[in-house]
Amino acid sequence: MKQFSTRHLIGIKNITEDDIQLIFETADNFKEVINRPIKKVPSLRDVTVANLFFESSTRTRVSFELAEKRLSADTVNFTASSSSVSKGETLLDTVNNILAMKVDMVVMRHPAPGACVYLSTRIPANIINAGDGTHEHPTQALLDAFSIRERLGDVAGKKIAIIGDILHSRVALSNVFCLQKLGAKVRVCGPPTLIPKHYAELGVEVSHDVRETLRWCDVANVLRIQLERQDIKFFPSLREYHQYYGITRQMLEELDKPIVLMHPGPINRGVELSSDAADSPHNIILDQVQNGVAVRMAVLFLLAGKR
Ligand code: CP
Repeated sequence: MKQFSTRHLIGIKNITEDDIQLIFETADNFKEVINRPIKKVPSLRDVTVANLFFESSTRTRVSFELAEKRLSADTVNFTASSSSVSKGETLLDTVNNILAMKVDMVVMRHPAPGACVYLSTRIPANIINAGDGTHEHPTQALLDAFSIRERLGDVAGKKIAIIGDILHSRVALSNVFCLQKLGAKVRVCGPPTLIPKHYAELGVEVSHDVRETLRWCDVANVLRIQLERQDIKFFPSLREYHQYYGITRQMLEELDKPIVLMHPGPINRGVELSSDAADSPHNIILDQVQNGVAVRMAVLFLLAGKR
């Protein structure tokens, strides 16, 4: 049986194309399971998973919890706002106290880039990064690529544009690593202030012209403007951002070929996407969410095999 190459999923940068293909093949099986009337398998019976969320989340937290329940794992959920972190406890002390209660795997979202790497060298449990600051969000990139593969048959050779706030996005970096490993052509597009200079060194194309980018791509993965991470102004106003970089249904319908529209959520309607674009038949946004459960089941299952 094929094995995953690492004990943790910290980022897409650290895994191989074979790992990604193994996750997809495993997720294909789990997608079939979660569409059955009885959606549960016993694969992770007697495994305990702690979901540690030090930053807000809707999709990722619910998706991991459902994935764990579908695999029959025992789960405990932790949110920083209602925990002793607010009394000054360190991350390592908090996690070690939770692990002392015999936890096998940790899913963690944290505002600090590198928080998962830090823990992975200090605790015995398997760690899955559910988003660490502006660094990586590996399961989001995996479910995005899985959804492209499902819609277009393959990722290799496809032209994928990542449009929006690249500077503050962990989804962008994980997507670039994942799509490149799978052989896609990747372009990032946004205002110059929201595209870090080092992206050109990652081997992606850089554009500031959203209309030309939509004509170029097969898939547009549109990212949210992350106002909560912006302590200075990167563009004059949200209205101006929408005017120059927002995508409308009319823009999609004027293209000479249909493209696939993606968004990791949460959407800021009227900013990066108009409401009619967000609800248009081009989008596969809820397919991404549905695929997230199967992909996270695959990741949990494969990492549990490395315990
Ligand atoms: N896509 C994503 O990470 O969404 P949440 O912040 O709701 O988990």
